Order: sequence, then C-alpha cells, then structure tokens
Amino acid sequence: MENFELKLPTEIYFGKGQIVHLPELVKRSGRRVLLTYGGGSIKKSGLYDQVTTLFKENDIEWVELSGIDPNPRKESVDAGAQLVREHDLDCIVAVGGGSVIDCSKAISVTCKSEYDCWTLVTHPELIGEALPIYTVLTMSATGSEMNWGAVITNLDTNEKLGFRNDVMRPKASICDPTYTYTVPAYQTACGCADIMSHVFESYFDQVKDADIQDGLAESILKACVKYVPIALKEPDNYSARANIMWASTNGLNGLTGVGKVKIWVCHPMEHVLSAHYDITHGAGLAILTPRWMKHILNEKTAPQLKRFACEIFHVNSSLSDIEAAKEGIKKLYDFFVSIGLPMTLEKVGIDDKKLKEMAHQAYKDDFQKTWAPLTEQDIYEIYCDCLVEM
Ligand code: NZQ
Ligand code: ZN
Repeated sequence: MENFELKLPTEIYFGKGQIVHLPELVKRSGRRVLLTYGGGSIKKSGLYDQVTTLFKENDIEWVELSGIDPNPRKESVDAGAQLVREHDLDCIVAVGGGSVIDCSKAISVTCKSEYDCWTLVTHPELIGEALPIYTVLTMSATGSEMNWGAVITNLDTNEKLGFRNDVMRPKASICDPTYTYTVPAYQTACGCADIMSHVFESYFDQVKDADIQDGLAESILKACVKYVPIALKEPDNYSARANIMWASTNGLNGLTGVGKVKIWVCHPMEHVLSAHYDITHGAGLAILTPRWMKHILNEKTAPQLKRFACEIFHVNSSLSDIEAAKEGIKKLYDFFVSIGLPMTLEKVGIDDKKLKEMAHQAYKDDFQKTWAPLTEQDIYEIYCDCLVEM
C-alpha cells in the first residue's frame, strides 16, 4: 500500500430532519448567506421554503444565486463571487446536487481571490482562502458534499476541468435521503453510474494489498446494484435512498482511494464528452466503463476484473480469469441497461465527428502509468466502441 494522508474535516448530518442543524451551522460563520441552487427542483419539492423559513426564524439574511446548470459554467461562478463581494456575505449554503455544490466551492475561492474562476481552475496553485460552505444535498452521485474537488465547464473552450484544494471542503453537509425522493429515474440511474465509476477508478489499480479500501469499494458497488433498482420502483423507499446516499458520499470522500496510485481514466474520458456535448456525467460514464473494461482486458488485468465479477455479480468463480471477467463486464453492461441508462453515444446525441479530437484532448501522459496503460489511439478505439451496442 502507498503512503497516504487523509483529511475528512466535513461534518455530516445524515438522516431525516437533520436540516434543523442548518441555522446553528451557518451562525458559526455569520448571519449573511449566499444561497445557491439549480434550476428549481428545490422550489418544487418544498426544500427552498424549508431552508428560507429556517433562515427567517433565525435572523439569517440571504442573497440568492439560482439557475446553476448541470455541468456548472464558469460564468455562474464569477457571478456568485461578485454577489459575495457586493453584499459582503459570510458563507455559502449550497442546496442541490454536485453541480450546485461544485459551483459553490468554486465561488468560495473565487470571491476571495483577485483572479477569476477559470484562472483558478487552470492554476489551482493560485488559490488562497475560501469562504465557508455548508451543503444540503439533494442528489446522490458525486460525493462533492464531503470532498475537496469541483468540476467546472468552460463552453468557450469546450473544456470541463476538475480542480481541488483543501480549503474548498464543505464545513458541514446535511444529507437527508428524503430529499432525493424527487430525483427523476434517469438522474437516479446516472448518479448510480457515477458512484460506481468513482469506486472503479481506484479499485482497478496497481496496489493489490489495500484490503480495507477494496472491501469498502465492493460494499459500495453492492449497495448500488441492490438499492438502485429498488429506488427506481419505489422512489420514496427510505432504506434504498439512504444506502444510495451513503454509498455516494463514501464513494468519493477519499476512503476507497487512499493508499492507491489513483490515476483516473474513465472520468477524464467522460469530462471531454460532456464538455463538447453537455451530456449528463453519469450517462457518459455508463457508456464508457464497460467498453474500457473490455478494451483493457488481458491476462494481467483479468484477475482483478474476475474478482469484481464474482464479488459484485456472483459470476461462477470456477471460470477462467478471462471468461469470468468477460461475464462480469457483460453483467455490468446489462445492469446499466436494466436501470434505464442509454448505452451508446448515439443515444446521448454524439456521433463520430469529433472522436479523434476528443481522444487527443482526453489523453494524458499519466495514462501510461495506470494499472492498464492507455494510449491516445486506445481512447479513440474506446470512443468508437461506444457508438454501437455491446
Ligand atoms: O438544477 P435542479 O433544478 O436542482 O435539477 C437537478 C439537475 O437538473 C436535478 N436534481 C437534483 N436534485 C434533485 C433534482 N431533481 C429533483 N429532485 C431532486 N432532489 O438533477 C439534475 C442533475 O443535477 P446535478 O447537480 O448536475 O447532478 P450531479 O449531482 O450528478 O452533479 C454532476 C456534476 O458534478 C460533477 C460532474 O462532472 C457534473 O458537473 N462531478 C463532481 C465531482 C466532485 N465534485 O467531486 C466528481 C464527479 O466525478 C463529477 O465529475
Ligand atoms: Zn464522477
């Protein structure tokens, strides 16, 4: 196992009704809040009223930044930073999914900086202080509620880039699974693919003796496979939504990745797709992942893929490594189909025109150092494979 340092300073308030803690949390930072949210789901669900009533009852003033898009844009970040400066706000309360939380994290550092958002995304070494952030999670997917990263899109340059800094970690997150009852089936399925992908990115890794991390990774994957179909049938099944939410938080808070080499591949490949075509992150990952697994399957990678196949999809362990791995990849593909994910690029509106250009953009030298090294040509071939059903 590699050396590691682990910081998990975000306080989690998990379960029904935990929103009552929001005022006391906010008051640790002051009484003037930037309230951020997306396209209006929190107004429909009643969560907006709940949060603003708590603010009013507790003498908390707020200014709003609404309309944050899925795949949040740099312009929203700069607009939010401007509001913080203009109104001299003390903290940010982000109510939403990964997009709202990521945008808010980026605002938290941009408002304290002389640089604009995109300069900080591309030069994270320039990040200084941050305004405190508190989140109210409404969607299980990214793990952003308990990690230090944010992903921002620049439509001018067709780039979608992640950046990270310890100061961007939320101070506290309210994780109430009942807030995810209203998440549409498609977003629930996309969130599932995202959670599973976060786990895969470090589960399939050169480090072979990280038993604790791999055991946790498998528990998260099993929870997705067990509970997402239940949540799709019964959107207000508390156990299902609670397990999915805790899976998503643990999927990317650092615990499954510590001690690993951790060079991600499917995420960089997906971020290029969503930067060019503005597709849903999880849908892109679902399309790419089984093709990536198929592409890198060989004698060296097969044992780990077999372990995955046997542990998660109960593939017959007496099969050869290669046969079991193939069976596991097929079962993963079928699972994604069964939860309603579109499984070709065509189904998310992507044709073959830009595949070469996007493969070039996605490729990084680090890909040579992964558990299953990839060249630019490999990425291109994986993208091409995604054009047809598997
Ligand atoms: O905007 P609203 O109206 O709120 O609707 C959203 C949005 O349309 C809706 N939604 C969220 N909660 C809902 C709900 N609808 C009904 N009821 C609710 N309770 O769902 C749609 C998608 O929301 P979004 O926040 O975009 O989803 P997600 O949480 O999957 O976040 C995706 C973004 O996070 C980035 C992705 O690249 C993408 O930009 N990621 C962030 C990471 C991180 N910070 O660590 C890691 C991830 O790998 C990922 O890259
Ligand atoms: Zn992701």
